[in-house]
Amino acid sequence: RFKAVIFDLDGVITDTAHYHYLAWKRLAEAEGVHFDEAFNEQLKGIDRMGSLDLILAGAKRTYSDEQKLALADAKNRHYQELIATMSAADLLPGAVDALAAVRAAGLRIGLASVSKNAFTVLERLGIRDRFDYVVDAALIAHSKPHPEIFLTAARELGVDPVHCLGVEDAVAGVASIKSAGMWALGIGNPDVLTRADRVIPALDGFKLEDYQ
Ligand code: G6P
Ligand code: MG
Repeated sequence: RFKAVIFDLDGVITDTAHYHYLAWKRLAEAEGVHFDEAFNEQLKGIDRMGSLDLILAGAKRTYSDEQKLALADAKNRHYQELIATMSAADLLPGAVDALAAVRAAGLRIGLASVSKNAFTVLERLGIRDRFDYVVDAALIAHSKPHPEIFLTAARELGVDPVHCLGVEDAVAGVASIKSAGMWALGIGNPDVLTRADRVIPALDGFKLEDYQ
């Protein structure tokens, strides 16, 4: 039934979700905002400025647009330091096998990450050419949970959303997939990813034939 699989990147294919977490935590704590894994869960899949707004909502002071841009830039520089030494060794277990299985089954493969660093990460991992289409986050107006990014990937792949399977580790990402009218495979904890059609702990449990 599926004709395309559209993957999220951070936290699905590689553990950059942890690097985003570390970079946001340092920023939040410098601004006097308590930051933990539970709060971070709400930031997954949310774009840079949207994430910053969620963090600064917990601060005692207010920030000008200029100050917010400076903080977002500082977070991004820290994040880029953290990803600078990434390589194929940072692919999560099962990621390459999952991509190869989808390719072997003759399905199209898309990547839908709102990260403006996604192309850099794909290059470092050495998997850019495994995707038929990678959404350019700079061209996306609405962050997840809005369906725009998954719908854009489907359109560019030339596949109707009802024939797409989306793969996500984030609550906002699963919501984006479901709002796009696609089938959602969650990666992580079923108690967190309650809207997913199926949840597996990690991509090394990926079995395309189970989802047809
Ligand atoms: C992904 C991650 C988020 C991150 C966002 C923007 O959605 O899950 O944690 O904030 O991308 O990333 P960027 O690299 O553009 O700051
Ligand atoms: Mg993610």
